[in-house]
Amino acid sequence: MALGSGEFNVSKGDDGVEIWVTQMGPWSNMNTAFIDRENGVVAIVDPYDGVGWLKALNNEDLEPTHILLTHTHKDHTAGVKAIRKAHPEIEVWGHEESVSPSLLGRIFFRRTDFTHIWNHEPNEVTVWNCGLIELSVIHSPGHSPGHVTLHGHRVYVAGDLLFTMRSGRVDLPGSDPAAQWRSLAMAKTVLRSLPGDWRLIPGHRYDWIDGTTPDWVTIEQALEHNLSLNAPNIEAFDALSFNRFDDELSV
Ligand SMILES: [Fe+2]
Repeated sequence: MALGSGEFNVSKGDDGVEIWVTQMGPWSNMNTAFIDRENGVVAIVDPYDGVGWLKALNNEDLEPTHILLTHTHKDHTAGVKAIRKAHPEIEVWGHEESVSPSLLGRIFFRRTDFTHIWNHEPNEVTVWNCGLIELSVIHSPGHSPGHVTLHGHRVYVAGDLLFTMRSGRVDLPGSDPAAQWRSLAMAKTVLRSLPGDWRLIPGHRYDWIDGTTPDWVTIEQALEHNLSLNAPNIEAFDALSFNRFDDELSV
């Protein structure tokens, strides 16, 4: 399927946790929320359009309680301000290494004040939970420092570590191609350990192998076709054209 901008796909698992997925903005940012109505928990990952999220949740008598950030590039944090303004008590989670201190980095990173931080080492896993929601959080730097992925409840939220067919660029301030390669190796191990029919939600909805732009693919499909996950070595990975390009807007 192909979601319109701000359109939501909602599914509910046997465990009672709802997964809301939408795509928003000119770079087709994919946003995911984990919702536990029973306990009033609404955790949004990387909100792009804060007002859009607030409106959609309000229609269902829900309020956001947590924002979980895969990284702090502007297009992954654009909606934080509006949501925080409406809900000042909201918890905002991110990895402590995810804000670049460099001046150049400020072009790409939005200053984001976290209320809670993760501080685990690269490729370590920590668990985040609230109510019925339990997510594995993996520190996966490379595209950006302090990048994390989150998985649980039949979805793997890849942020800009992985898209359906490719992986996040590594030519921005704070990028580290070698770290990205290690993070991808970890991701491959983790994805192989998960059920193949879980959804991989990419940070952006980019082209798939057949020229379509699906909102997500299954883990099985990603493992079979994703070019970065299937690169035989770091040299082959590093030569992939999407690692570096001139358009500095698409972060
Ligand atoms: Fe990014």
